[in-house]
Amino acid sequence: MKTRAAVLRDLGKDWEITDLDLDPPKAGEVLVRFVAAGLCHSDDHLRTGDIPARYPIVGGHEGAGIVEETGDGVTRFKPGDHVVCSFLPVCGHCRFCARGMSNLCDLGVLLYENSLPDGTFRFHGDGQDYGQMCLLGTFSPWAVLSEHSCVKIDDDLPLEIVALVGCGVPTGWGTAVNSGNVRPGDTTVVYGVGGVGINAVQGAAFAGAQHVIAVDPVASKLEVASRLGATHTAATAEEAHQIAFEVTRGVGADQALVTVGVVTEEVIAAAFAAVRKRGVVVVTGLAGPAKKTIQVPGFELTLWEKRIQGSLFGGGNPFEEIPRMLDLYRAGKLKLDELVTARYRLDDVNQGYQDLLDGRNVRGVIIHEH
Ligand SMILES: NC(=O)c1ccc[n+]([C@@H]2O[C@H](COP(=O)([O-])OP(=O)(O)OC[C@H]3O[C@@H](n4cnc5c(N)ncnc54)[C@H](O)[C@@H]3O)[C@@H](O)[C@H]2O)c1
Ligand SMILES: [Zn+2]
Ligand SMILES: [Zn+2]
Repeated sequence: MKTRAAVLRDLGKDWEITDLDLDPPKAGEVLVRFVAAGLCHSDDHLRTGDIPARYPIVGGHEGAGIVEETGDGVTRFKPGDHVVCSFLPVCGHCRFCARGMSNLCDLGVLLYENSLPDGTFRFHGDGQDYGQMCLLGTFSPWAVLSEHSCVKIDDDLPLEIVALVGCGVPTGWGTAVNSGNVRPGDTTVVYGVGGVGINAVQGAAFAGAQHVIAVDPVASKLEVASRLGATHTAATAEEAHQIAFEVTRGVGADQALVTVGVVTEEVIAAAFAAVRKRGVVVVTGLAGPAKKTIQVPGFELTLWEKRIQGSLFGGGNPFEEIPRMLDLYRAGKLKLDELVTARYRLDDVNQGYQDLLDGRNVRGVIIHEH
């Protein structure tokens, strides 16, 4: 079949809307009609090279839609099923999946080529194979996906909203709750209130943090953070540092969660300085693989037993976390509608990313036309 998708052809190039051919699903795959796709910062990293990948590539790794067709051997899905996509594929059987660390599934090795698990591609155009960001490609209204990337959800959930639960929501929430292990009474600092960080704020508040200090240079982000659980806000890391030491009477924060768009040495240093003895810095935001963003005094690391922890998908298991987030949403305990601050047509994807870089959105969402 034919589809239209937002693609990147090379490093530094803008998104381009192009017509592509899409193969039918092979064994273990499903054809999905995407209803909505979230604009996560990670797709912009594909453009800048902060996430290296093979080009050309269909963008988008946050999405929700409806299964239209299933390939041979697919038993978990039937046409008409609603799905949220996990930005990490989960095979269920590799050593890491078997140990309950399925965010680290060995299929993650595919995230450079971004082919489907059998090593071949479903999108084609001008004689070339197109990869699918995180094996998804939600910036196309149609895509063929591995069943390892799809989580079945209830039919009555709004697909335009729950698309966010494929990446930003569980990543942010788990940054606080899993990787940061926020406990009742804790003091948590969150650096960067985008689609990921706002959910770190919600997760920390829900886990019982007494003080949640949201840091972002953009005032409108801090307003949203205050509505969704932040007890304090700061425009700069220095301000946040002062607040963290004031409210803990000189002890320091229990967690410093780094969810900024592009991680820098400065923000890591600030986070490291803000935590108490045996406190933890959780690094969820990304920067290019060649950048040495973590420069901290080892002296303090050792003698204060400070910890630095990376976090992928919030340190949780996608097939567990996605339904959990949706249950909390249904119960009104996790806010999602409030996170969608702008809706775009696929043709306006470059505007959507400009708005992200200009700090206008908590999360922008593409609504697909069919
Ligand atoms: N580890 C994972 O599993 C995972 C998953 C998804 C996204 N990410 C990464 O998380 C990061 C955040 O993604 P997003 O979609 O929320 O991005 P975003 O651009 O929507 O939000 C980032 C926020 O950080 C703020 N910011 C920038 N520099 C800052 C600083 N020095 N101090 C405080 N705030 C600052 C911006 O104003 C913005 O509000 C990106 O690097 C993304 O690639 C990681
Ligand atoms: Zn993402
Ligand atoms: Zn696995």
